[in-house]
Parts: sequence; structure tokens; C-alpha cells
Amino acid sequence: MSEFKKVAGLTGMKDTLPPESARWEELEALVRDWLAGYGYQNMRTPVLEHTRLFTRGIGEVTDIVEKEMYSFVDPLNDERLTMRPEFTAGIVRSAIEHNFLYDRPRRIYAMGPVFRHERPQRGRYRQFHQIDVEALGFPGPDVDAELILMLARLWRLLGLNDIRLELNSLGQPAERAAHRAALIAHLEKHVDVLDEEARRRMHSNPLRVLDTKNPAMQDMANAAPRLFDFLGAESLAHYQGLCARLDDAGVAYTLNPRLVRGLDYYNLTVFEWVTDRLGAQGTVCGGGRYDGLIELLGGKPAPAVGFAIGMERLLDLWLQDASERAPAECQVYLAHQGDDGQRRAARLAESLRDAGLRALVHAGSTGFKSQFRRADASGAAAAVIIGGDELAAGAATVKWLRADSPDGAQQESVAFDQLAQYLKQRI
Ligand code: HAM
Repeated sequence: MSEFKKVAGLTGMKDTLPPESARWEELEALVRDWLAGYGYQNMRTPVLEHTRLFTRGIGEVTDIVEKEMYSFVDPLNDERLTMRPEFTAGIVRSAIEHNFLYDRPRRIYAMGPVFRHERPQRGRYRQFHQIDVEALGFPGPDVDAELILMLARLWRLLGLNDIRLELNSLGQPAERAAHRAALIAHLEKHVDVLDEEARRRMHSNPLRVLDTKNPAMQDMANAAPRLFDFLGAESLAHYQGLCARLDDAGVAYTLNPRLVRGLDYYNLTVFEWVTDRLGAQGTVCGGGRYDGLIELLGGKPAPAVGFAIGMERLLDLWLQDASERAPAECQVYLAHQGDDGQRRAARLAESLRDAGLRALVHAGSTGFKSQFRRADASGAAAAVIIGGDELAAGAATVKWLRADSPDGAQQESVAFDQLAQYLKQRI
């Protein structure tokens, strides 16, 4: 008995085991193909960054920065560090640091874990995964449309037809300032219905006050001046340019003037893809334009637009539709007897892999009965048996596990040097 008590995993941080992990890999492979189809290239940035990158990039007065970041002081060199709560700020930092936009705009993606200390529930975790896509250096609205059409294609590829698109424009800084003044005046007039958080934010981040879930504040929020009504001709033209391209492609959307997003770096286009099939956490993807961020983080000014998909949410949706059948661990399971049998099986397995088959050699010395049980549980199409008789004859016994072989046999003897070809032709 160990003297240690077992250590549990952290709240809100999930383990992914087979067979579910195989669905993750399947989704990741499909996503990489989809991104390649649009010329997006992979960028890998560290999980840890300086805290100030996110406070500056995402904004001091946001939920993420105020209460959700995993931040700590690294005592070894006295630096304040944060585990990335999103990809965008890190990708922009990296692009600036490597002068990555010096000769042309870039289409970039990243995939991996991000961290937010939120209250966990279905679809909301403390370590979760994003597919993050960024088009750096493009003023749009053509690229804004490209990103949204890409997403519509991904939903189609995955057979998801009930994710709807909500769109808004947050305009430019001057338009936001005019709206902000009107909004603060509105909030001041209704200060009696504001909850504590709203009062605290009404001057620092009044737009976020409207994003409230508090039922007592809904009437006040509905009557508030809309940013969309403050947009000037250029911002409206950008928005209309995007809408025209979505119309061309037959992608449906609704204008949601209340859509503000939880990060401060956005301007002009913002969007979210939402479904009713995931309970309270129905936003599968969120994104928008952030033309000021590169300059804010010290780079040469350049426009940019992007989005992130929550992979747990996407997978949840996808698996609701997908069949339950677990993917097979291998195509061929090799059972054997004795030391010589094991060594021959191991060599044969290598020749099967050379031929492109996925093969598993039984490990350990157990009787054939339990080896067959394992072979069956592995999901393999065929078991290959190497016992004393087989070694003497120089031929393996192939036993078909799911259905008879394509030529109607349940079991067949196949010479060792023919085995790879025989199986390759039939699996
Ligand atoms: P975001 O809206 O904060 O945007 O997150 C994007 C997506 O990540 C959400 O729509 C949701 O699917 C997923 N997500 C967020 N929080 C959680 C959580 N706690 N558990 C599980 N999934 C979650 C961004 O992160 C921006 N960086 C997107 C972007 C890229 N904008 C421009 N470029």
C-alpha cells in the first residue's frame, strides 16, 4: 500500500482518454485540412507570456483580466507571468517580435490549450482548447467575409446545420467615444437599477454593462443608445461590404446590436456563432476585427481580423450527431505462443506496417483464449496467429474477426512471406 493519498486532477481541467481522444485527433486532422484549403499556416507560441501582454491587449476592465487569469510571480526571476487565456495577444506579440508582416499580410492559425479561471459547467472549463485563426495585415471587409465563409464550410464539413451567425459592427474609436458619452449619460440616468458591478464599470467600460445577464437591468439595457446608430459612412460601408459578400454566398446572419464581445481590442466587425444545442454555453465561435491591437502592442500599425472556436463545444456538438462506434485500435492483432512465436510475430508486424497496415502485437505471455479476447476488444478486422504449428509450416493462421474475409473464408493459412500482401488486399 502506498502511503500517499491519490491526487485528483484539477477542477475544470479534463482528461481525454481513448476512445474519445481519437475523435479529437480526427477533428484536429479535419481542421488542419480545412485551414490548408484557405492557405492558413500554423504558428506556435508559448503557453506562458508576460502578464502585461494580456492586461494591455485584452483590456484591464474585462472579465478575463479582472478575474479569470492564471497569473503568478515566477520567483526564479521575479516576473509576473500568465498562462494564455486566448491566442490573439500572443500571436500579435510574436508577429511584431519577428517582424513577420514586413513584406506581406499573413494568414495564421494556432490550436491548443488556453486557461481561464471560470466557474466550470458543461461547455465551460478552466483549461479548454481553441482553434484560433488570424488574418494579419488585411483591412477587409473581403477577409472578414472569407473568415465567416470558412466557418460556414467547417460546419458543413462536420454536418452541423444549426449554428447561427450573429453580427455587429463596433465602429471606430471616435464613433465609440461619441456613443460612450451618450451611453454613460443613459447609465447615470438609470443608476438606481444598476447592480454593483455595473456601477463599478459604468465609467470604465460602459459597453460591457449592457452585456449583463441581470434581469432587473434588461429594460435599461434595451433602451440604451446603440453603438450601431453612431456609425459613420465608412464604418457602415465596411459593414455593408461584409454583408454583401455573405449574401453572395448565401450565408444567413442576424444583426445583433448588443453583441460587444468580452475583449477590448475589437473595432468594426464582430461576430459569434451560436447554437441552442449546448445548454447555457452555446457560443461555439467568436471573433472580429482588431485594427488597433498591433500598434497598441508596439508594432507598426496594421489591420487584423480573426476568430477562435471552442474545441470542447465543437466536439460536443459533433459527437451528438456522430455514431457511437469506437474507432479500432488497429487493423490486425497478432497472437503468438512461446518466445519464437513472439519474435516471429514482432517481425511480421513490422512487415505489415511497411505495407501500411496498423498492427498490434500481443504483449506478455498469456494463453490464446485471452489473446483472442484482446484481439476482439481492439476492434481489429483480423487476428494473425503464430503458434508452434504455424512456425513449423512457415505460414500464419489468419482468423477474420468481424466478418468473413472478402473471399468468404473465416480462417485461412497464409505463408509468412505472403501475409502482408494477403492482408493488404483484404482490409
Ligand atoms: P472568446 O470569445 O473569448 O474569443 O473565445 C472564443 C471561444 O472559446 C468561445 O466562443 C467559446 O467557444 C470558447 N470558450 C471561451 N471560454 C471557454 C471556456 N471557459 N470553456 C470552454 N470554451 C470556452 C477569443 O478568445 C478571441 N481571442 C477570439 C479572436 C481571435 N478574436 C480575434 N481573433
